[in-house]
Amino acid sequence: KNYCVIMAGGVGSRFWPLSRQARPKQFLDILGTGRTLIQQTFDRFSSFIPVDNILVVTSVRYKELVMEQLPELKEEQVLLEPLRRNTAPCIAYASYRIKTQNPDANLIVAPSDHLIIKEEEFIKQIKNGLSFIENNDALLTLGIKPNRPETGYGYIQVKKKVEFNHLDNLYKVKTFTEKPDLEMAKIFVDSGEFFWNSGIFLWSTSSILNAFETHLNDISSLFAKGIKLYNTEDEVHFINKIYSECKGISIDYGVMEKAQNVYVLTADFGWSDLGTWGSLYDNKNKDSLGNVVQGENVLTYDTQNCIINLSDEKVAVLHGLDGYIVAESNDTLMICRREDEQQIKQFVTDVRIQK
Ligand code: GDD
Ligand code: MG
Repeated sequence: KNYCVIMAGGVGSRFWPLSRQARPKQFLDILGTGRTLIQQTFDRFSSFIPVDNILVVTSVRYKELVMEQLPELKEEQVLLEPLRRNTAPCIAYASYRIKTQNPDANLIVAPSDHLIIKEEEFIKQIKNGLSFIENNDALLTLGIKPNRPETGYGYIQVKKKVEFNHLDNLYKVKTFTEKPDLEMAKIFVDSGEFFWNSGIFLWSTSSILNAFETHLNDISSLFAKGIKLYNTEDEVHFINKIYSECKGISIDYGVMEKAQNVYVLTADFGWSDLGTWGSLYDNKNKDSLGNVVQGENVLTYDTQNCIINLSDEKVAVLHGLDGYIVAESNDTLMICRREDEQQIKQFVTDVRIQK
């Protein structure tokens, strides 16, 4: 009765131009391991969840990419969204689909683009979490100790420890703040009371659907209308119809910030959201000058602390750069200071408007 839902419909715009709308980062082998990020996510879960109980929710646009990269999945395990509506509708859809198959299901909801180095520790914590949500009406997330005031994450303030199965890392959550501004993030980190939200959630289908009814009723009532259609050939038609009426909001803003029954299991499993160039830089081996260089024909002079991602075909000469991202993909080249990488989202929007 344990299921895993892999969310894979994001476009990864902060990783542009490597991550493109046609092939977002979850479908790329960003770390050069031989497996793409979504494949690594699948491998991690299929080691202890039956493959039949793993679902991927993605955009209809990425159906072929998912089927190609995860041939273990049957077509009905890939849930397709006609429009991008962020993670709340994606989770509502998967929850209703699974509920009609198994009303007592426990869900692990996971992003498709994270790096987890200590897999054994990760699996251990997931199993601890599953046993907690099995017996409690809880919305549980895995929390990570922060090491910098990152503004791209959710911040969790913990209240008191929860006594359960001799765990010493389970807390009731006091506040959940999605993507605070820098000033706030600094206060949070300095206080020592906060954890980052890893974005990996555990809950029973009934707990999450109750939370939807309370906090995002407009979304859940849309999905509930089709309760008889899930797992039938009419499902796709129904979903295509309701998505256009459905608002877009993330689970973090829509549910986690509001619900009262939020818990966190804090853990250290070598987690990194490979969300940005900075996180890739942190996770790659650097040369003696602190450069991460991809591209066979890149010559650097007096250049340090850069992340350079160029194609093997291009001869590139870089001189006198410190702390830059230099990245290209097909017809696009971007050069940007590493410290300004949060602006990349804006570049992507501007480029789209120009085209
Ligand atoms: N199916 C589907 N549909 N998937 C989506 C959609 C969508 O509309 N939008 C995003 N996703 C997928 C992404 O591909 C990714 O795997 C996951 O959902 C999370 O979305 P992100 O867009 O990467 O979220 P985020 O990184 O800004 O924030 C979340 O993750 C942080 C940790 O990485 C939040 O949960 C934060 O609180 C958290 O700290
Ligand atoms: Mg992310």
